[in-house]
Amino acid sequence: MSALSKTLDLDLREARWNEFVATVRPRLTPETRLAEREVLAPKTTMRVGGPARVYAEPATTEELRQLLVEANHRGLPVFLLGRGSNLIIPDEGVDGLVICLAHESWQKFEVRTGGQVWAGAGLRLKNLCGLATKAGLKGFEFLEGIPGSVGGALRMNAGAMGGWMFDVVEEVHLLSLAGELRVMNKSEMHVDYRHCAELHDAIALGALLKPAAIAESGDIRRQIDVYQKKRVESQPREPSAGCIFKNPPGASAGRLIDELGLKGTRVGDAEVSPVHANFIVNRGHATSADIIRLIRQIRARVKSARGIDLEPEVLLYGQEWRDVL
Ligand code: EPU
Repeated sequence: MSALSKTLDLDLREARWNEFVATVRPRLTPETRLAEREVLAPKTTMRVGGPARVYAEPATTEELRQLLVEANHRGLPVFLLGRGSNLIIPDEGVDGLVICLAHESWQKFEVRTGGQVWAGAGLRLKNLCGLATKAGLKGFEFLEGIPGSVGGALRMNAGAMGGWMFDVVEEVHLLSLAGELRVMNKSEMHVDYRHCAELHDAIALGALLKPAAIAESGDIRRQIDVYQKKRVESQPREPSAGCIFKNPPGASAGRLIDELGLKGTRVGDAEVSPVHANFIVNRGHATSADIIRLIRQIRARVKSARGIDLEPEVLLYGQEWRDVL
């Protein structure tokens, strides 16, 4: 592509974004936040990355729909941001509409008559656990230490302590990028280790969850404390994106990386955690370029020493890992 056509392309793209903002802004209530070039790093647990071209915190499903439909109509990419705990934002930012369900309307926790729990996509897993404990509902304890939201946990089928998000799901309410609302039973969904196919091109609005049993709050709390102790002992405190790689079949990525002596390896301020080798921690001023270089080094070592291709678990916002690694 010549320099001139590249500039024209960028101008066209910019015109589309301006048109998008000019079209949607008058349709949004003051409750909805819409911002241009919003810095994303502070909204993530890794604390790296550039701005979102457009950022929105819709207050209602209808406003969310407006944003999706108008972006989709103009061929502008849309990304969901939960608690930002499982992703790396590129240093150059994201040329997309980044939507975050941070408004309180997405944080509902309601115990239904059948004993199920409605959890909004924006509800933090920690709060879900706390509220369920208070209500004497057992089965959500494993989620307590995951620094994510219900929506993100559904998207990734997040897991810890031997449990997976979809273990406790009955149905998911989702909105397609074309703005269509769907209610899906868990049995209709294609869910796997750290993966939910239906949420690749749709947004979870919330889910109906099924507690395992009714129990004394004190008993539930004790189980949470056991998990918390295990986590504090085995996972780092510094900013990170959780585990970087998926565990390969029958093995532990953390143990593999550890056995190769890579703990403490650094690129800039990105470091393989000395506590858990499947975590990369930000020692202060890491960039996403540092993290990507470190990921490449780890993969190369594991490949040459063990013949295993480690696959990232974290998302690289707006890009595909296969294009970068
Ligand atoms: N190990 C090492 N060295 C290390 C790290 C781990 O030898 O540096 C060993 C441990 O001693 C243990 C085994 O490897 O024997 C497995 O380690 P761990 O129990 O920490 O579990 P993991 O498979 O590394 C998974 C999830 C975590 C989740 C924990 C606890 C993945 C990729 N990771 O870690 O999830 O918190 O179990 O249940 O599935 C995440 O998804 O971001 C995440 C942190």
